[in-house]
Amino acid sequence: MPNLTDAATAMPQSLTITSTVRLLSGHSMPRLGLGVYQTPANTCQSIVAFALRTGYRHIDSATAYRNERPCTLAISASSLSRSELFFTTKLPPRTRGYASTAASIDGVIAENAELEGYIDLYLIHAPYGTPEDRIGQWRAMVEAQKEGKIRSLGVSNYGVQHLDELKAWREKQSEQDRGVLSVGQWELHPWLDRTDIVDWCAREGVAVQAYSPVVRATRMDDPLLMGLAEKHGKTSAQVLIRWSLQMGWTPLPKSVHEERIRENADVFDFELTDEEVKTLQTGKYEPVAWDPTKEPI
Ligand SMILES: NC(=O)c1ccc[n+]([C@@H]2O[C@H](COP(=O)([O-])OP(=O)(O)OC[C@H]3O[C@@H](n4cnc5c(N)ncnc54)[C@H](OP(=O)(O)O)[C@@H]3O)[C@@H](O)[C@H]2O)c1
Repeated sequence: MPNLTDAATAMPQSLTITSTVRLLSGHSMPRLGLGVYQTPANTCQSIVAFALRTGYRHIDSATAYRNERPCTLAISASSLSRSELFFTTKLPPRTRGYASTAASIDGVIAENAELEGYIDLYLIHAPYGTPEDRIGQWRAMVEAQKEGKIRSLGVSNYGVQHLDELKAWREKQSEQDRGVLSVGQWELHPWLDRTDIVDWCAREGVAVQAYSPVVRATRMDDPLLMGLAEKHGKTSAQVLIRWSLQMGWTPLPKSVHEERIRENADVFDFELTDEEVKTLQTGKYEPVAWDPTKEPI
């Protein structure tokens, strides 16, 4: 059974829907996000608008999801100011190297005036390609950040080998050119142990986002979850999201249903004990999404 990470044990217990984590970039990231993978573009605006009314302040999109536009329209149509909202998007997995990455970032900014000129968090979606491709992507992101187009930089689906590669490159650059790795995003839930990656992030001060936090609804009837749900008067989804928060991560549950969007945010009035948090660390490695962390460098 893996040990709790420092981030998890250090977590303050008084979390609310407005809680944020301070990133190495100096910006703050809301601790709960709404995922929009496979949220259809034609309903996405009203779904995001509902989430914002419910209290979500963080939306996780990607250029590959083809729904950045309805997300940003919902942001601008809301009564909230741009600075109260946190919008993430990601470099398409097949976009390689410096020039294509710079063009992708510029495309997002140009097509989404509602962002008011900046993306809160930009992630490399997956570590495909050569070392030169990945470093080129990172260099373009660092440049875009210097130009004010991105606030915080991150990676997704990087294995420790890709994280080490980026770290080694960054250490050889001047402070001005190396950029800051603020966030990493991975599939993380009780049946997917990524202690190596999570520990790497804890050592480097990188904030961890958890995708597929409700395991794509494949484990809702698990006896372990159902027992905890009954004890706390909550649903299995709420136990999973609360567990993710108590692990010190930023969960990004996705739903297209209003009642589930509300349910997934109603996780701030109960707390799992340390023992319960440990019980859900099964040590298993059973992804429900893709797993580019295994890509060789
Ligand atoms: N970086 C990456 O490579 C990557 C990969 C995958 C996901 N992500 C991000 O992470 C987000 C979440 O991950 P995910 O979509 O894979 O999985 P997830 O959030 O674990 O699960 C979403 C699925 O669970 C259902 N669901 C949600 N809440 C529920 C509840 N309270 N009760 C019952 N069913 C519920 C949803 O159905 P309905 O929608 O029908 O309610 C949907 O089928 C994505 O939307 C995306 O933003 C990133």
